Amino acid sequence: MKDVTRRDFLIGTGLFSAGMLLSKVFQIDLATPVQAKMKAQKWPWPYEKLDPEKTAEMAYNEWYRIFCGGAVISSIFSQLAEKIGEPYASFPIDAFIIQEGGLAGWGTLCGSLNGAAVVANCICGPRTSGSHAGHIITTNLMDWYSNTSLPIYKPKNPKANKDHIVQTMSNSPLCHISVGKWMKASGFALASPERKDRCARITASVAYKLVEMLNAWKDGKFHEEVKWSPAGMFGITAQQNCAECHGSNIPEAPKMKK
Ligand code: HEC
Repeated sequence: MKDVTRRDFLIGTGLFSAGMLLSKVFQIDLATPVQAKMKAQKWPWPYEKLDPEKTAEMAYNEWYRIFCGGAVISSIFSQLAEKIGEPYASFPIDAFIIQEGGLAGWGTLCGSLNGAAVVANCICGPRTSGSHAGHIITTNLMDWYSNTSLPIYKPKNPKANKDHIVQTMSNSPLCHISVGKWMKASGFALASPERKDRCARITASVAYKLVEMLNAWKDGKFHEEVKWSPAGMFGITAQQNCAECHGSNIPEAPKMKK
């Protein structure tokens, strides 16, 4: 939304008259553009390079407190809060515990990727600024996650899977598929210490990779590896390997009517 005032927004949604009425009844100032308040916020946020190893170790341990999404955010933002201060210092990290289990346990986007997307976009800035780095980092991370045997990161003091851990390639950024394939390959149940350690290591692996990307971006050395835009190519928001779910009968999205 570019410079859309509260008023435009209300007109757009057909709520303008109701809004006027409410403002009279409750004496609230609906005329104040929300955008004016938002402009006081500075975005993107400053970044200083971090140590991927240290970040991953923090993410692993934080998983046992606030799970995947929160742990990725915590591992990076807590260090930046120390190095830089605001706006990191007052960021409500723990609120992102909601990303657990593919968002509130629904098995959609893996929380570690969801947390990484929040971090990348806060640091790299809006898509409209000319640089799409936040978007590209997120897309590359999703691609890497889907096509890599994970977890890679070995914690200093693993809480389970001490001698050996099964690695699986999910071919998907979805929690449900990623966890499901790993459980099938390893034989461990969702509530087992082994599965928890596996997800904590995935979280650490994602935090490590994300910091590598952010550091490269900070040095001006981040290169776009994945060039496609999923929605643009197929006319539907999707991961790319359509056949994984649809088999040989991939439906076509409706085209624009002329
Ligand atoms: C993670 C699994 C998954 C992947 C990957 C996936 N789809 Fe789907 N898609 C689904 C499911 C499930 C439905 C709902 C199917 C139904 O209702 O029968 C669906 C529905 C659709 C529909 C709506 C029409 C219909 O027949 O239901 C289209 C179009 C579609 N997919 C196209 C694609 C394309 C193109 C790709 C690859 C770019 C893709 N899908 C990748 C799972 C997936």
